[in-house]
Amino acid sequence: MTDSKLAIVVLAAGQGTRMKSSTPKLLHELAGVPIVGHVLATARALDAAHVVTVVRHERDRLVEVISADLPGSIIVDQDEIPGTGRAVEQAVAALPADFAGDVLVINGDVPLLDAPTLANLIGSHRAGTAAATILSCFPPDATGYGRIVRTSDGHLDRIVEHKDATEDERSIGEINAGIYLFGLAQLRTHLAALSTDNAQGEKYITDVIGHLRRAGESVDAIPVTESWLVEGINDRAQLSDAAAKLNALLVRNWQLAGVTVQDPATTWIDVKATLAEDVTLLPGTQIRGATVIERGATIGPDTTLLDCEVGEGARVNRTDATLAVFGAGASIGPFAYVRPGTRLGARGKIGTFVETKNAKIGDGTKLAHFNYVGDAEVGEGTNIGAGVITANYDGVNKHRTTIGSHSRVGTNTVFVAPVRMGDGAYTGAGTVVRKDVPTGSLAITVAPQRNIEGWVTTNRPGTDAARAAEESGN
Ligand code: UD1
Ligand code: CA
Repeated sequence: MTDSKLAIVVLAAGQGTRMKSSTPKLLHELAGVPIVGHVLATARALDAAHVVTVVRHERDRLVEVISADLPGSIIVDQDEIPGTGRAVEQAVAALPADFAGDVLVINGDVPLLDAPTLANLIGSHRAGTAAATILSCFPPDATGYGRIVRTSDGHLDRIVEHKDATEDERSIGEINAGIYLFGLAQLRTHLAALSTDNAQGEKYITDVIGHLRRAGESVDAIPVTESWLVEGINDRAQLSDAAAKLNALLVRNWQLAGVTVQDPATTWIDVKATLAEDVTLLPGTQIRGATVIERGATIGPDTTLLDCEVGEGARVNRTDATLAVFGAGASIGPFAYVRPGTRLGARGKIGTFVETKNAKIGDGTKLAHFNYVGDAEVGEGTNIGAGVITANYDGVNKHRTTIGSHSRVGTNTVFVAPVRMGDGAYTGAGTVVRKDVPTGSLAITVAPQRNIEGWVTTNRPGTDAARAAEESGN
């Protein structure tokens, strides 16, 4: 049910300079979703009356993600005044005039933050009398974070940013997690009083805490025991740490759901993937995007599947596949490159050093060795010999090849598309198919073999070949 007394503000306007990237920090991905996408998913789970996201740097790229994840949410463009305080100030100004309640402010760079942690924050705040309640934690390394300064009797007094802190303050291990719950009225009052008089020349949201205390209000900080839940991502080292943590959680969840993961350290599963019971993932496997794997399938080792569907009991070994569908009991690899639009039927085979693209391949059809099949349709129960190629590109346009069911395509056949081969037809080895092959016929294009006897002795006298021929009596 919608929490009509809750508004969420997601801060996503920062530049993310420490990433040193042309991609905005919050669009860097972990488990197949941008950093900000994880935060928006958590915000969505709380079902607040309003969600406001503040953007500025690369705003159009961020707005695209926000509109897809949270359509209908409020987007605010931060002006030239920098800082998290300014971002919240503008977000609050964008809330509908009739809103009254609590404002949950979330830094956009905390992808591992989960809804239960926020629900707990909201519950504690509403059970008490504090004007604001924030999350703190004791990370292994507090460098860079704002520190929680407490009075001698243990009450939260203010937050000091790392860059503004004294040596003594920098030795404090408790940090501000960047997640705050404020009563709207007090927040409004104190935002108006923020200044940019600090080391970074920015309006800090963290200064609101000190101002509330000076005004005689109480503020609570709830320490989060698992500090990884609230750690912010500022650079690529923190990104890979968070990605590894998230992956470990995802792998464990799938293991508990009945998936065998032999080597969690080298297996990567995106959040949008779905795996059935008795799926086995072997080392070096990446299950990316919205890939779906049915019961009993075995994937890997060393396989990457992006947005694929793998049928029951299929076997995919040392393969790179994107936007492909594999039927039940199909066998793929080792060393297959399966490109978008490939659909392999039940019990079909895409074997070793085979590349496919935009190809519908019927049930039980086999492409076992060294094939390229692109822009093609192959029927059921057909055998494609070693080295068979569909020559789909005439240098300007792409053309289609159609091969029927229960046909036998000889080794090294080349289909010069557009061309068709009927059901139950054969081609001889090395055939170059430029004309349609009718149903039930054999196509051959190779000239008859001619043997010129004694050619080696005459033309290559004195060679090992000539001697070998002579010794054999020829
Ligand atoms: C901030 C906190 C710090 C805390 C840390 C927790 C402040 C002043 N400091 O520091 O106390 O320990 O988070 O991770 O808030 N943003 C805007 N507009 C801006 C600047 C930033 O929307 O003008 C957004 C960023 O996109 C980011 C978030 O606010 O998502 C935090 O900004 P960041 O620069 O990462 O703050 P920290 O220095 O990490
Ligand atoms: Ca940060």
